[in-house]
Amino acid sequence: MSAARRIGDAWRRAGQRIDRLDARLLLEHVCGCSHADLIAHPEREMTPAQLARFDELLARREAGEPLAYLVGSAFFHGLEFAVSPAVLIPRPDTEVLVEQALARARRLTSPRLLDLGTGSGIVAIVLARLCPSAVLTAVDVSAPALAVARANAARHDAPVRFLEGDWYAPLGDERFDLIVSNPPYVAAGDPHLRQNGLPFEPRDALTDGLAGGDGLACIRIIIAGAHRHLSPGGELLIEHGYDQAVQVRELLDAAGFSDVGSWRDGAAIERVSGGRLS
Ligand SMILES: C[S@@+](CC[C@H](N)C(=O)[O-])C[C@H]1O[C@@H](n2cnc3c(N)ncnc32)[C@H](O)[C@@H]1O
Repeated sequence: MSAARRIGDAWRRAGQRIDRLDARLLLEHVCGCSHADLIAHPEREMTPAQLARFDELLARREAGEPLAYLVGSAFFHGLEFAVSPAVLIPRPDTEVLVEQALARARRLTSPRLLDLGTGSGIVAIVLARLCPSAVLTAVDVSAPALAVARANAARHDAPVRFLEGDWYAPLGDERFDLIVSNPPYVAAGDPHLRQNGLPFEPRDALTDGLAGGDGLACIRIIIAGAHRHLSPGGELLIEHGYDQAVQVRELLDAAGFSDVGSWRDGAAIERVSGGRLS
């Protein structure tokens, strides 16, 4: 038996180049095996094709490409979602947006919910699954992102209407009980964009460079348009950067929202702000 081909040896060698957990997940992806298989049968031999594919993915991971793009999926709210470089990789930060939206949606009968900038569809799909009486619409400007979102909705049997366009543009004069959004909120020149795998993610999902570039440009557009698309008493919830809560609350106050507040993520950072329009 060739040591070069044994799965246990491949794991050990890869663990010297990249994070050991990432090495394991890449191996499981390439070989179609489970963690238990890897532990119980480290002597199992990889085929030449599996070895070549593993070497390629290992080199890409070593170069900083996010694991989620290499294996083609990521978990959010306990569900597995397909991801591609056309969509932002789901972040745990977004859990607080979903929790706040769910709490509001569950108080209503057949609420009409709108997810602006749906990307891979995670927010709309989780809301559709956990609040089955809700009627979900999701918008994104990116056709390739919407293809990923539609596939995820089908995979999770989530009834979501997906529309392509610029924020509210595809909605005519439709109104909703709750609008949620995790828009691009990183300023165009932010140095973080060059770190932690961000260069591999879609630039227009991260930054508001096309809309102005100060980090709040998309948020301003979403707040300004909410008047035309919220029902009386309807609410808007926006995810934002770790240091933007005060500014977003000011924008909401200035736009005439009431009950303006912010909600913290698992790291105690104000991550979502919102309010109500009477
Ligand atoms: C930060 S990502 C959020 C993706 C997803 N909702 C999530 O939470 O993982 C922002 C999304 O907004 C979309 N977007 C950017 N500009 C837009 C615009 N003008 N109109 C609609 N969607 C836009 C991007 O394509 C991207 O999918």
